[in-house]
Amino acid sequence: SLERFGRVQALQTQRKFASTLTAIKDETETANTEAKQCSTFQSMQEERRERAERSVLISCPPKFNESKFLKLLSTHGTVKKYFFYHNSTTNAVVEFSSRNSIASLMESTRLPSGSSIPFKSRLMSLKWPDTQSPLRKVKLQDLTPPTPLDTIKKLSKKNSIDEQLQCLMDIYQLTEESISLRYLVCSLLGDLAGVYFPQSVIRPFGSTVNGLGRLGCDLDMILDLNGTYEGSQKRSSPHLEYQVKMALSERAMVQTILSVIARCLEKFGPGFGGVESIPHARCPIVRFSHETSGLSCDLTLNTFGMKSSELLFLYGQLDPRVRPLLFAVRFWAQNHGITKVVPGAWITNFSLTLMVLFFLQRRTPAILPTLNQLKDLAGPLDKCVIMNNDCTFVSDLSKISMNNNTETLETLLLEFFEFYATFDFKNLSIDIREEKPQFKPEANLFIRNPFEEDLNVSKNVNEKQLSNFVTLCQKCAWISQTQNVLKPLSGSVKEFNSPWGFVALLPEHMYTPVFATLKRKKPSVNITDLFKTLKLTKKTDANEGESVVAD
Ligand code: CTP
Ligand code: MG
Repeated sequence: SLERFGRVQALQTQRKFASTLTAIKDETETANTEAKQCSTFQSMQEERRERAERSVLISCPPKFNESKFLKLLSTHGTVKKYFFYHNSTTNAVVEFSSRNSIASLMESTRLPSGSSIPFKSRLMSLKWPDTQSPLRKVKLQDLTPPTPLDTIKKLSKKNSIDEQLQCLMDIYQLTEESISLRYLVCSLLGDLAGVYFPQSVIRPFGSTVNGLGRLGCDLDMILDLNGTYEGSQKRSSPHLEYQVKMALSERAMVQTILSVIARCLEKFGPGFGGVESIPHARCPIVRFSHETSGLSCDLTLNTFGMKSSELLFLYGQLDPRVRPLLFAVRFWAQNHGITKVVPGAWITNFSLTLMVLFFLQRRTPAILPTLNQLKDLAGPLDKCVIMNNDCTFVSDLSKISMNNNTETLETLLLEFFEFYATFDFKNLSIDIREEKPQFKPEANLFIRNPFEEDLNVSKNVNEKQLSNFVTLCQKCAWISQTQNVLKPLSGSVKEFNSPWGFVALLPEHMYTPVFATLKRKKPSVNITDLFKTLKLTKKTDANEGESVVAD
């Protein structure tokens, strides 16, 4: 089923976005038929997790002999898959067919001499004496994102905005190998957490699993106590109960567990470093890096994140336009400084994602169903309540009827800018659960949390950041409507003529190194005023039954 899932993903990735409406429809149908056959989000996670438990991570010297290395590993059992990647050193991810092989390999692996802390994990080093020739370099998988310059060059060579957006997703999305490595890091951390909570599981969530992950993005993990903590169900029959230490509150319990794991990571965890506890955040986390994989990690106990990741994954599977559009908007926002990796008063990727989904729910006809509609389609097995919040929604994609919206990605991208350039942020909230517009409580930007309905996902966003976002949407709407930048200029080397399409909507500093002479000038006047003028012109023209002529 994992392979089938891979095929669906590959299918959606490879297929280029339609120049014709029929092509879009065909793709939607094929992708959805295959998606319907593939397993649910949870079973996919389980399968990947199980594979990670049969895997080891080995740091290798720059040169060694690959076949002899594999022969050495094969003495412990069948190697099912392996790959090498570079991060400071060459590293190997090796997946065995059976977990018994891991036990056998660990049995034969030695501790380094000196006063080492004898915590034996599945992170190892390959020691290769120079005498064991021939030495060769191995083929490496590239797990790093492309440079901005390469990205601009690749996008500029495409023939339409639809192709550009599809290409952007293709070159940035997490590869099969990068996902395997992420699950392996979770599994390694799970071995440490398992010392205290044997039934617990460390699961990845956020962009690693929601279908929106970009090469190089952080690794969000949840410590799932997995039944260790059952709550207080009253039983009438005689039974035994564990004696445990009590915490003052649920929050205090989370803080205590995370602080112990943080300390354990810092002192004992091979490969983990830069451990920082953030216990007083609304959602307490431990932040650290995993050196061998180069991943920045956040560990939490908040199970809502898992559910919202599943929801985003599901939305991404419902229509082949959703993921490329989300990749594009997230890329655009990051490069314009609308979103940032460090926490602050800015819009986060999660908020932005909800804004895109909300916009897609409001197309005519709607491209995505509301969360309430997904809830109505749920079966008994989909029932999910977390801390008294109903988080139920359908998991079987085949129950969701397909939309008959045929808009291209180009239209959707430009309409997204227009939609938020004119959105009534003052009075309305962004709420992906409801079909009807919802009035908002007091706040600059109110994006209702899909599962904890009293919470505003964008509570951190201040007026200035919201205004920056709106101005940028106005600017992009204005550029695309008035400047002749949507199509490439003709010419044999069109990519070097000038920025066009999606590239023209990115910040200038990204594309100037690629285009020596800029033929298309960006506006220097007040963009909000220009945008208003444009809206007025549009209205007048529409009244007169004439089309708006682009400048
Ligand atoms: N999340 C949430 N409520 C928030 C913020 C985040 O439920 N207020 C959940 C979402 O499921 C989100 C996940 O936590 O996907 C991880 O958050 P974050 O790392 O900020 O977003 P990602 O989607 O992982 O994006 P990025 O690539 O920027 O890490
Ligand atoms: Mg993340």
